[in-house]
Amino acid sequence: MQLLHLDSSVLGGASVSRQLSAELVARHRALHPGIQVVSRDLAADPVLHLSGAHLAAFNGAATEDATITADLVKGNAYMDELFASDILVIGAPMYNLSIPTPLKAWIDRIAVAGKTFRYTATGPEGLLKGKRAFIASARGGVYSAGSPAAGLEHQESYLIGLLAFLGITDVTVVRAEGIAMGPEAKKAAVAEALADIAAISA
Ligand SMILES: Cc1cc2nc3c(=O)[nH]c(=O)nc-3n(C[C@H](O)[C@H](O)[C@H](O)COP(=O)(O)O)c2cc1C
Repeated sequence: MQLLHLDSSVLGGASVSRQLSAELVARHRALHPGIQVVSRDLAADPVLHLSGAHLAAFNGAATEDATITADLVKGNAYMDELFASDILVIGAPMYNLSIPTPLKAWIDRIAVAGKTFRYTATGPEGLLKGKRAFIASARGGVYSAGSPAAGLEHQESYLIGLLAFLGITDVTVVRAEGIAMGPEAKKAAVAEALADIAAISA
């Protein structure tokens, strides 16, 4: 069994999503002794944004550009790690109502027609079967269903939609929100999320 652990916060040791994703990994290590963990710090070591040069190389054009070549190797490794993993743990802070750009850049490398999804006569079909995902969500404000800002939530909903598009529908969100609403609110939100992680039993 393999777990793919992604982090994308720029806040390093002060990051809430990193704290939660690390706890999720620890929980899965406890539940599945011997599980292999592959980690990617997408903030510290991102891929480049897609460019025309990438698309040309994807379509078979030879490239002499060492930067593009190294970047393509990393993007291919993302895809291999994803296919080899049974469980995904995605550290996902909310940045400007959505996800951090290095996490989007990861998605741009693994959401590939013919590999992770395909178009059929009845609509798109996800090709990633039998995988589970856990989203470690952190955000400064409150966007949960029923809150005044719920309509601005494009972070968890985007990730859940994207994962479903790729065939991953078994998704658990562990959320700490209201992180910027004072130390007490932050403490309570993190404690609640940690309790949710401790309660994961399979
Ligand atoms: C660049 C940036 C953009 C942010 N945008 C939002 C936002 O749109 N809404 C919000 O509620 N919080 C926003 N925040 C606050 C973060 O969501 C909050 O600090 C959260 O804890 C980040 O996760 P992290 O602690 O893992 O880095 C933003 C923070 C940063 C650094």
